[in-house]
Amino acid sequence: MMVRSALLNVMMGAARKAARSLVRDYGEVEHLQVSMKGPADFVSSADIRCEKTLRAELKKARPGFGFLLEEGGEIAGDDKSHRWIIDPIDGTTNFLHGIPNFCISIGLERDGEMVAGVVYQPLGDEMFHAEKGAGAFLNERRLRVSARRKMEECVFTTGIPFHGRPGHQTFLKELTAVMGQVAGIRRFGSAALDLAYVAAGRCDGYWEAGIKPWDIAAGIVLVKEAGGYVSDYDGGAAMLETGELVAANDHLHQPLLKLLRSARG
Ligand code: IPD
Repeated sequence: MMVRSALLNVMMGAARKAARSLVRDYGEVEHLQVSMKGPADFVSSADIRCEKTLRAELKKARPGFGFLLEEGGEIAGDDKSHRWIIDPIDGTTNFLHGIPNFCISIGLERDGEMVAGVVYQPLGDEMFHAEKGAGAFLNERRLRVSARRKMEECVFTTGIPFHGRPGHQTFLKELTAVMGQVAGIRRFGSAALDLAYVAAGRCDGYWEAGIKPWDIAAGIVLVKEAGGYVSDYDGGAAMLETGELVAANDHLHQPLLKLLRSARG
């Protein structure tokens, strides 16, 4: 029987509450695609609305904890040990275009270490959650990373840098190095869900550079608690600081890292 901590219950409750308006807003966005103005302004208000609900719910339950918010930035709390790291809509470009792959991501950091994570995909009602030492779950089901060992059988996910982001040429080198070795590479457009998919064994690994802490905070806990490995490009644990992340099972993590490093030269 799965016993969930009070903290996880708080995080999941906040995600479910915020998701209600998000799903309504997504319905609107689908209609706005064909309008001249497009849904961009509407989506940024949906983002802010969702973040406000998450912040209020989490603050009510743990008044002292600090926040790192995609929209609101850093908000220090009285409790210097704990910080919520939140992306109200991860997969914003998808949301904006009416593509149903987006989620709410809530991570909890304790003394510099990620200790709990919730990634909620409201349209599919998929609640991925994990807490340090207690395992990773999708709704009620325990998760394990994939057991694949052969690169040529594996599917990896990644993020492609876009307009205004650096690293386009480096990414192309990485892609060239990896695509010749594997069964497939996917770009789904939500790093938090990419990591949840690695935790669930749906994908065998994920890499991205130039990623923000709120995109990966929760997913890091999911992958680790599902038995996977997560690191920066040097193999260290400075993912939130460097904005680099490589995640996979224990057979694939080193080979993937090696490929990415050789691509970068
Ligand atoms: C983005 C998504 C995307 C990743 C980008 C992120 P956002 O986050 O996670 O998959 O490739 O690097 O910025 O903007 O949708 O919160």
